[in-house]
Amino acid sequence: MPALVLLGAQWGDEGKGKATDLLGGSVDYVVRYQGGNNAGHTVVVGDQKYALHLLPSGILSPTCTPVIGNGVVVDPSVLLSELSGLNERGVDTSKLLISGNAHIITPYNVTVDKVTERFLGKRKIGTTGRGIGPTYADKINRVGIRVQDLYDESILTQKVEAALDVKNQILTKLYNRRAIAVDQVVEELVGYAEKLAPYVADTVLVLNQALEDDKVVLFEGGQGTLLDIDHGTYPFVTSSNPTAGGACTGAGVGPTKISRVIGILKAYTTRVGAGPFPTELFDEDGDALRRIGGERGVTTGRDRRCGWFDAVIARYATRVNGLTDFFLTKLDVLTGWEQIPVCVAYEIDGKRVEELPYSQSDFHHAKPVYETLPGWSEDITKAKSFSDLPKNAQNYVKALEEMSGAPISAIGVGPGRDETIEINSFL
Ligand code: GDP
Ligand code: IMO
Ligand code: MG
Repeated sequence: MPALVLLGAQWGDEGKGKATDLLGGSVDYVVRYQGGNNAGHTVVVGDQKYALHLLPSGILSPTCTPVIGNGVVVDPSVLLSELSGLNERGVDTSKLLISGNAHIITPYNVTVDKVTERFLGKRKIGTTGRGIGPTYADKINRVGIRVQDLYDESILTQKVEAALDVKNQILTKLYNRRAIAVDQVVEELVGYAEKLAPYVADTVLVLNQALEDDKVVLFEGGQGTLLDIDHGTYPFVTSSNPTAGGACTGAGVGPTKISRVIGILKAYTTRVGAGPFPTELFDEDGDALRRIGGERGVTTGRDRRCGWFDAVIARYATRVNGLTDFFLTKLDVLTGWEQIPVCVAYEIDGKRVEELPYSQSDFHHAKPVYETLPGWSEDITKAKSFSDLPKNAQNYVKALEEMSGAPISAIGVGPGRDETIEINSFL
């Protein structure tokens, strides 16, 4: 019953889509367990490029069943347009399963997300504006709308009324916006019911039965460890648990079933949105990483902030997720630098600190302590095995592995499916 979790070890955009797609052909189920269409997962198959937001990357593998678990927040309009976009490109999406317990991102939650950010002004989080935070807030406040509610109009109306009761007060009195009409929301949501019906299932039962039948299940994280609501750089985080434990609650599978936890780790660091980022570069090296790495958000089109690799963060990800392996991505982007700095510790108030400080104020003024590793200039995009890499690239990978606390079992040397060096098999 091999269940694997694949998640972001940094601030998102590590290359989870590519890594998931790579394994997709050998696994039976790929499950999203948290987040929503704030994610942007790029998968390159041959000359085709796909940007997936809500759908699990396994949807591109014909033998795999994609699952949207109970922990995900679902915007039905985005889901349906993503499905039809893939259908137009010849991808069969009929196997998709959606948990009836997943919460719906309602139009008013998208509004609240945008209005709240505007109101926060310079203190804003820099959210993707997709309604993620307000939808999880409604879930925790017990005024959320679930997928199953679409099939009982009377219950749905009562729930939308309850949710809008307070929200309309806030929208009109605090934010100076028009109130949102219950009927209009109900009508829109009911309009999705029939279209989504073929996909709605008891995904907890399906996945647990699959594991009993020795099927291979892969949980695909959205976002990343440092964006986790509990373990990330709060409040500059997303509103769910991308960390490994989130796979259990977000899919209804017990922790005893998880056999492997793979952290996707970029060979340097990026971040989108606001919040602390010790190794961030504001010079030409940062610009070069952004240019060569194509570091532009898949969801919002925003430029990603770029910086050197941070081993303190990687060690932290190993710890909070219980990582068994790393998949190191985008090593090819570092080709051409004569020397590559790597952050091995922080300096906080004149003291060297080896681990991520729990105090937000300390982290905000943590200064990176760098060690510099020799770079390489040879093209590595055709490398198929570790020994094909130039010696300095091998040493860079080995150094990162030693600092990060888990074996690097695969290395990405380009965006394509086949541009990967496999060191230890994941299955
Ligand atoms: P995700 O959100 O973690 O799935 O990552 P994104 O798709 O947002 O961003 C990762 C970007 O890097 C995408 O454009 C991928 O196609 C690309 N990518 C993934 N792995 C590699 C790699 O090893 N080398 C290069 N050059 N690009 C990669
Ligand atoms: P993938 O899955 C990078 C960031 C946003 C913002 C914060 C909160 O592609 O790695 P939210 O809309 O979730 O309330 O925004 O989280 N963020 C991401 N950053 N990759 C992502 O997803 C992200 N999803 C959310 O930029 O700082
Ligand atoms: Mg992304």
